[in-house]
Amino acid sequence: MAEAASMSTGREGSSGTALARAAAVPQDVRERIEQLKAERDAVILAHYYVEPEVQAVADYVGDSFYLAKLAKSLPQQTIVLCGVEFMGESAKLLNRTKTVLLPEPAADCPMAHMVQRATIDAARAEYGDDLAVVCYVNSTMEIKSWSDVCVTSSNAVKIVRELSQRHVLFIPDRNLGRFVAEQVPEKHVILNDGCCPRHEAISLAELQELKREHPQALVLAHPECTAAVLAEADYIGSTAGIISYAEASEAREFIVVTVQGVLYELERRCAEQGKRFFVTHTPPTCGDMDGITLAKLVRCLETGTGAVKIAVDEQAAERAQLTLDRMLEYAAR
Ligand code: 13P
Ligand code: SF4
Repeated sequence: MAEAASMSTGREGSSGTALARAAAVPQDVRERIEQLKAERDAVILAHYYVEPEVQAVADYVGDSFYLAKLAKSLPQQTIVLCGVEFMGESAKLLNRTKTVLLPEPAADCPMAHMVQRATIDAARAEYGDDLAVVCYVNSTMEIKSWSDVCVTSSNAVKIVRELSQRHVLFIPDRNLGRFVAEQVPEKHVILNDGCCPRHEAISLAELQELKREHPQALVLAHPECTAAVLAEADYIGSTAGIISYAEASEAREFIVVTVQGVLYELERRCAEQGKRFFVTHTPPTCGDMDGITLAKLVRCLETGTGAVKIAVDEQAAERAQLTLDRMLEYAAR
């Protein structure tokens, strides 16, 4: 495997690296985590982008929709969310009486702030009641409170399609918004100028080079990528969608065009299938997700620090919560 990787301009992720890192978590650390969880009545949720060591000790691992949905049904009093701030905020808004802890409270998705209130006011003034403000869950509580409904990358197309309004202001991600607009041409989708800097940075040239080196490989991409990158994709979907697609596919090789944290779950699920996964030569990483380490998770469980606060007034919190409740309702239809 190492030889294949060194011959390639891309990097092979199927050499079991992520699995090996997860397996190397010492037994005493695992036992300590179990003990601390019991003491705090805590459950650990992790996003597919965090380090393999953290995913390995989590009780539940998933995409942002799964984590939000799941958080609502868990019996434990404390939810430790190994993800970026907006994920913790969503869990807190959906579970106001519970404690939600973030092992790294400074881990913040930059895209979550990329909307101006004036953009929303202008669209509402122009289209009135025939406009829905559709907010990607990667957004702050305040931005959610200005919106009508939340979506994630796994349900955005379905929810936009079902809205009664013809006009949709899609915030903050222009790339997911454009992808949704293409899938739902009957709607007039207005885009906002925000994006994920990590997905935008994925190089088209590196992807094309990788495709030339692995002509049999299917390209699996997250809709936060640019239009030019998505034009090369065989499948476009959320992190959970990418993982399920690869697992079910007959293909043997895949170029994964999203943050490389997903390689752990891909390796874990496909370990017996002999599948190979490649990512671009420049590592597709998310610095914020990388900040959520196993050491910080243990410290968070020990100290109980990193509690998510409702950072807006009560009326705004209720409006923000409603956008998430509506998402869960639409997605369940
Ligand atoms: P998912 O909805 O696939 O979990 O994506 C979250 C995210 O932050 C993508 O960058
Ligand atoms: Fe935000 Fe992009 Fe990181 Fe996802 S990958 S958390 S969208 S910065």
